[in-house]
Amino acid sequence: MTDVAPSPLKLSVIGCGYLGAVHAAAMAQLGHTVVGLDVDAERIAALSKAQAPFHEPGFGALLEENVGAGRLTFTNSYDDLADVDVHFLALGTPQRDDGLAADLSYIHSALDSLTPHLQARHGKPTLVVGKSTVPVGSARALRERLEEIEGVHLVWNPEFLREGFAVEDTLRPDRLVYGVGHPVQDAEAVTVLDAVYASLIALDIPRKVYNYESAELVKVSANSFLATKISFINAISELCDITGADVNDVAEAIGMDDRIGRKFLRAGIGFGGGCLPKDLRGLISRAGELGAIDSFAFLRDIDAINTGRREYTLRLATRLLGGSVDGRRIAVLGAAFKPDTDDVRDSPALDIALRLFAEGARITITDPEALDNVRKRYPSVRTAATVEDALADAELVLLLTEWGEYKALDPTAIASQVSAPRIIDGRNVLDLGAWRDAGWEAIALGRP
Ligand code: UDX
Repeated sequence: MTDVAPSPLKLSVIGCGYLGAVHAAAMAQLGHTVVGLDVDAERIAALSKAQAPFHEPGFGALLEENVGAGRLTFTNSYDDLADVDVHFLALGTPQRDDGLAADLSYIHSALDSLTPHLQARHGKPTLVVGKSTVPVGSARALRERLEEIEGVHLVWNPEFLREGFAVEDTLRPDRLVYGVGHPVQDAEAVTVLDAVYASLIALDIPRKVYNYESAELVKVSANSFLATKISFINAISELCDITGADVNDVAEAIGMDDRIGRKFLRAGIGFGGGCLPKDLRGLISRAGELGAIDSFAFLRDIDAINTGRREYTLRLATRLLGGSVDGRRIAVLGAAFKPDTDDVRDSPALDIALRLFAEGARITITDPEALDNVRKRYPSVRTAATVEDALADAELVLLLTEWGEYKALDPTAIASQVSAPRIIDGRNVLDLGAWRDAGWEAIALGRP
């Protein structure tokens, strides 16, 4: 696929993580000339050779095509960002160490480095476009930092990509949202950003121009709403465990009401990743600063229900093993926070594995893509490259990330590989009847 925009622009993408690297490659795919910048020299070296530094379906091919075509280059020097039309800020805004708020220090230091390179360009506007998720009110404060420089506009253009679908979500987003500081002063900026996304707009992808505050709130509201759906069904799942109802049936039937919808109602060990948990906490924190804490107390419960799922699973495993996990051999299938990514940030799967490890269990973790990230962070945890190696002699199997290959496991074939056929399906994806027929003690969360 080669999309060529009507008038290619020169773009930079500052920050080449899961978001920025994919955005850079996707913008090159749209026909623009793109320079990706990151302070991590190793990452830049890999990207420059068209080697993907993380697992994301379709990203490797996109990178190769666009680096090969000469439209996409990478650097760690701001000196290489001369005469750029649009600078995208795609830096991480992780949770701060000292509380729930988002840490904007990467954005500030990128702007410190970028601003000396921003000059008036003979009447041509220069855009700085924030893609990172920031607390409401941030863009207006950041705008002040750029006001001195003639012809520079700040637009906030949140990204809604899902890991595992990042390429698809960037090239075919549900919507484009631009947050501007002033409808008249920033009209020219909207025209330039429309030129960046011309081939998406031509596909009738809705494009909305709001003020900064609305654009910022769209992003954190979307993620907090998704988190709320998941914790809601997980709370129902606990009642199912108590009463004998089946949470998959409840989710299926309530999801048939199109006001509710079936998506994001899969009960299990809960949500994780680099976005949902920290965006939800960031919203609680910001609401508190703005004097609206009472109306956001429920989000603390959403967060607590979610982290409570990890403890709940640990207790279930302990019960299944007769009261203690100490010294028991447990195979953990999955470490990534969801399938089709190698991202282990705030992964419920990895957290549960580490809790078992802390209680003395002899765990072996396997994952098709995330093991390098596990080993880097937790070198003392045992990992196995294959499911077969992980299962060897296990007294309990935990399915914690629903990779396709784990969903497709044949319970009869693998029953002889473990020392006791017991499994907890932490993602509600197995046919429990088939596993039980094959001789397994098979348990899922919220299912009889
Ligand atoms: C999320 C948003 O979906 C995306 O729009 C935003 O731009 C970034 O944050 P992502 O973090 O990639 O994307 O993951 P997502 O697919 O939303 O899943 C988040 C977590 O929720 C995962 O741990 C997943 O396993 C869990 N989940 C999802 C459930 O437990 N149940 C569900 O029904 C759906």
